[in-house]
Amino acid sequence: MTAFNFDEVIDRTQHHSAKWGAFESDCLPMWVADMDFRSPPSAIDAMIERARHGVFGYTMDPPQLKEVIVERMEQLYDWRISTEDVLFSPGLVLTLGATCRGFGQPGDAVLIQTPVYGPFYKVAAGNQKYAYSIDMQYVADDAHTFHYENDYDAFAEAASQPQTSIHLQCNPQNPAGFLYSRAELERIGEICLKHNVLIVADEIHSDLILEGEHIPIATLSDEIAQNTLTMIAPSKTFNLAGLACSVLIAQNKDIRETAAAALQSISAHVNIMGYEAAYGAYTGGEEWLRQALVYLKDNRDYALDYIRRHMPQIKTTVPQSTYLLWMDMRDLPIEGDVSAFCRETAGVAPSPGDFFGEAGQGFVRLNFGCPRSTLKQGLERLRAAVDQLAVTA
Ligand SMILES: Cc1ncc(COP(=O)(O)O)c(C=O)c1O
Repeated sequence: MTAFNFDEVIDRTQHHSAKWGAFESDCLPMWVADMDFRSPPSAIDAMIERARHGVFGYTMDPPQLKEVIVERMEQLYDWRISTEDVLFSPGLVLTLGATCRGFGQPGDAVLIQTPVYGPFYKVAAGNQKYAYSIDMQYVADDAHTFHYENDYDAFAEAASQPQTSIHLQCNPQNPAGFLYSRAELERIGEICLKHNVLIVADEIHSDLILEGEHIPIATLSDEIAQNTLTMIAPSKTFNLAGLACSVLIAQNKDIRETAAAALQSISAHVNIMGYEAAYGAYTGGEEWLRQALVYLKDNRDYALDYIRRHMPQIKTTVPQSTYLLWMDMRDLPIEGDVSAFCRETAGVAPSPGDFFGEAGQGFVRLNFGCPRSTLKQGLERLRAAVDQLAVTA
């Protein structure tokens, strides 16, 4: 069996990487959610083989890819869907925008639990809707870690407003990395059914489970499935984000046709290589993924331990999923923006917390989807800057 080398440091600075090109070369990028790992060989080989064919005209959805997704949902979640329930799009953010435009009325509210992935706010505002945020409650576990709890009374109240037509759900949750429990999902599902609010479930991180169980909300009941548009992708799972191929699952014909029409209206097509890489990854990338998850979990534990020992003023969540660590830096004596401190004083660029909404002020999100040596370097840089704060305070 091949042992994949996630320790290998791969230079990404010469390839127009959004992550590596955004800041000065002496600032270590640990922000946008892609990993510094090479994708599974099966994805790479599929693209090479397709490139050799040499003809790259307009393409159609590959039926084999739909079949693979149907099988995958059954294997992973005992979720029985059919190939006609599956659609493709170049990306989740684009699909979220199209969805906001396609469903409900102009001026309607899109219900979100925050802090959450930044584009949730923007896609609502940019597509004739507005984001209706319910802040999650911050709960300390101990001196080092915290988690969030959702306020379902406030959620039900918001869902009951006549103008609320969509709930954008983020499970696994970005930035906090938690998995919604079955009980929570049932509550969300019931509230949305009761008030006729469409569930748009962003489950892009669902293959990246470090511990616990991911439950697609659409698997809870037929009624909930009939009220849900689920979005997944091979992009986070197999590090293929630049190839722009994502998947929609809608078992309800009306929802599916509305989503398809919204995507067609903006001519949203996946490119040939995106399809090839997705097929290659889903059919031959499982062992790579298994090993990647072991590596990521070790990275998570390394980061948690390092922060606990050397920067105890920083509190973090304990992500069950993703390669993203949500860090509360509010107890550090930093003047101004904490992400600017990370970039300018420490030379590390995490995602700024306010990208995830107002409740993210004073937080940053650190991407640990990188070789351990890179993670160590980032944490050591941060520690040196934090130690310096104590000297100057
Ligand atoms: C929750 C969530 N949704 C969507 C995306 C982006 O998806 P795409 O690249 O398909 O637009 C990300 C990327 O970080 C994400 O974390």
